[in-house]
Amino acid sequence: MRNFQQFIGSFSFDSKLSEVDILGSIAHTKMLAETNIISRDDEYKIIDGLNSILKDLQSGWILPEEEDIHYAIEKELIRRIGEIGGKMHTARSRNDQVVTDLRMYVKKEISEIVNIINTFQKVLVKKAEDNVDVIMPGFTHLQPAQPILAAHYLLAYAWMLDRDKQRLLDCYKRVNVLPLGSAALAGTSFPIDRNITAKLLGFENVSENSLDAVSDRDFAIEFVFCVSMIALHLTRFCEEIILWMNPEFAYITLDDKFTSGSSIMPQKRNPDCAEVIRGKSGRIFGDLIALLSIVKSLPLAYNRDLQEDKPPVFDASSSIKMSLEVFVEMIDSLKFIKENTLKSTDKGFIAATEIADYLARQRVPFRTAHGIVKDIVFYCQENNKTLNELSLEEYNRFSSMFKQDIFNYLDAKHITNMKTSYGGTSKESIVLQIKNIKRTLK
Ligand code: ARG
Repeated sequence: MRNFQQFIGSFSFDSKLSEVDILGSIAHTKMLAETNIISRDDEYKIIDGLNSILKDLQSGWILPEEEDIHYAIEKELIRRIGEIGGKMHTARSRNDQVVTDLRMYVKKEISEIVNIINTFQKVLVKKAEDNVDVIMPGFTHLQPAQPILAAHYLLAYAWMLDRDKQRLLDCYKRVNVLPLGSAALAGTSFPIDRNITAKLLGFENVSENSLDAVSDRDFAIEFVFCVSMIALHLTRFCEEIILWMNPEFAYITLDDKFTSGSSIMPQKRNPDCAEVIRGKSGRIFGDLIALLSIVKSLPLAYNRDLQEDKPPVFDASSSIKMSLEVFVEMIDSLKFIKENTLKSTDKGFIAATEIADYLARQRVPFRTAHGIVKDIVFYCQENNKTLNELSLEEYNRFSSMFKQDIFNYLDAKHITNMKTSYGGTSKESIVLQIKNIKRTLK
């Protein structure tokens, strides 16, 4: 026989809220005393009781099972201080209580994630500074496109993470609204002062509409969306790490602890950490879809479906924190094999755009220049030559505009250094970019 009470309840997964639940109850109790709804004497007894439960929980004690964490704490309080403990729930419902808890929880998670992102960005910037002279191919369509600096590549992720951070901080403003005092749905006839509770709990505002407040989970969805974007960014980075560790590229190495061997193939060094992080994104996106689906079509106000909001929020948050923490260490250990990245810029006619620009600077319309260089590349392919291996005489067969200096433009370092536009790949632009991102990290 199934235990229906257990099925309806959330005790098996909401214990992560125990600490914020107790802190919320302490603030609520203080407010009840402040507004003379309960006596000071009752207030002290309740708060002492709650603090003793908190202390026991922190030292590993486990609450006896109830329908959910809120009931479990209240029952335990009554067990410890007697019937007076029941006064704590005056002018409150589990509906406003649970969503208050979840908001407190999400606020804390946002702060933690933002901190890890900051560390991550600092590691990336340091890596960029250390590799400011490493030249590698830049890709479009995963085909060799133009040479870039490795620092430029690393900083691209630092800027993505900057947006991730801004997004979380913006989301935080909407999480930072206190629903407590909305009671079950309609508010309460007790003369509560919601601003007192908000101040005690560090909420910036109180919610304006009690029906909305108890049924709103937008903040949780938004939070998990922000987390999903981070996960998405990490998958792009993972994909490249995996590719670039492949001997076909051999652009980078990672510390061995981020890889694993195979039980059968002795030569293997698999990029498991990057793969697991890439895989975690699937879970996190699933969490987002779960939340959207749970809230979809729910009539106002609270519905028990909302109880299912917690596992996806917890899972997304803990998954992204783990992923980010591993990523930070992994990137810290990343080394570019700069002979290989440079050698790779010889492949794929990566200087072709430069040759077209060379002609265009001599007033050949760019589209015409593009056609000329396309023919040159075609000629190279037919004759199994690189752009570097052609003679001036061969270049001149395609255009008389080519002079001896064309060969300067085939050098990858020279090519990168010419890209001095703002945000471009020249060392000069990259140094400025590093300065700019460092400013955001202060
Ligand atoms: N365990 C519930 C939840 O997580 C608490 C709220 C229960 N409210 C109710 N009206 N049954 O959502």
